[in-house]
Amino acid sequence: MEQTFTIAQTWELLDQARADGRSVGLVPTMGFLHAGHASLIERSAAENDITLTTIFVNPLQFAADEDLSDYPRDLERDLATCEAAGASIVLTPTVDEMYPVPIVTKVTVDELSESMEGAQRPTHFAGVATVVAKLFNIGGRCRAYFGEKDFQQLAIIRRMVIDLSFPVEVVGCPIVRETNGLAMSSRNTYLSPDEFVAAGVLNRSLRSAVKLAEGGETSADIIRTHIVEMIATETLVSVPDYVSIVDAATLAPLETLAGEVRIILAAQVGRPRLLDNIGVTLAS
Ligand code: PAF
Repeated sequence: MEQTFTIAQTWELLDQARADGRSVGLVPTMGFLHAGHASLIERSAAENDITLTTIFVNPLQFAADEDLSDYPRDLERDLATCEAAGASIVLTPTVDEMYPVPIVTKVTVDELSESMEGAQRPTHFAGVATVVAKLFNIGGRCRAYFGEKDFQQLAIIRRMVIDLSFPVEVVGCPIVRETNGLAMSSRNTYLSPDEFVAAGVLNRSLRSAVKLAEGGETSADIIRTHIVEMIATETLVSVPDYVSIVDAATLAPLETLAGEVRIILAAQVGRPRLLDNIGVTLAS
């Protein structure tokens, strides 16, 4: 495994790999890697000859009042995780390398970015789409691996690839969970032991909602109320910021569940806001 610090160094290695006929997988991350990230790197390493992992805490996707300066970091441990999971190149650029002059070019993905996380964090997805566009330009023709935990982010990136013709095949990968069902996230590190246990209700409520839907309940309102009521039984978990029941491809809100449905929620548990989601397929 080779660590690179600049875009030019990374291009050189990837140009060489492609000249040798080798395929490239890309796993963009913000570091503080956990088993969920490792699963993306492992999948990429299994499906491509070369895997480029990037570790970059992207300032553009944090609002002024968010946790950029104390976002958790542990580069040494991350490099060991990358190596064990099969990464070939790890790009760890500085902010100056990624944004050598104040950036005035931004990528915005309308509509898909406006609901859910976008409504809570209005500048977030432009920051994500812009850095991912840059990372796609660094990675070049490749398969790119993203977790389904950030389901809205994944839908936005898929749409950006179509709209802007990036030569990238986006691969969405299943959520990796703790034993209590909590979706793995770098921000889980902020949870106290009691909050960690309580946060298990997020996934439990989603699984219970899927059972309800599979049992024939098609009203989004009833399913949403069921989830909110289950979450309310855990006093350490706040009232969810949203519980959205949407079409999995378009993220359009559904009143009646049909077809490929995704139930997506966000709730504050102590310091972090946690996200989770689940899919259910029903006859349309
Ligand atoms: O999901 C993340 O970790 C980030 O949003 C991403 C895609 C690496 C862009 O900074």
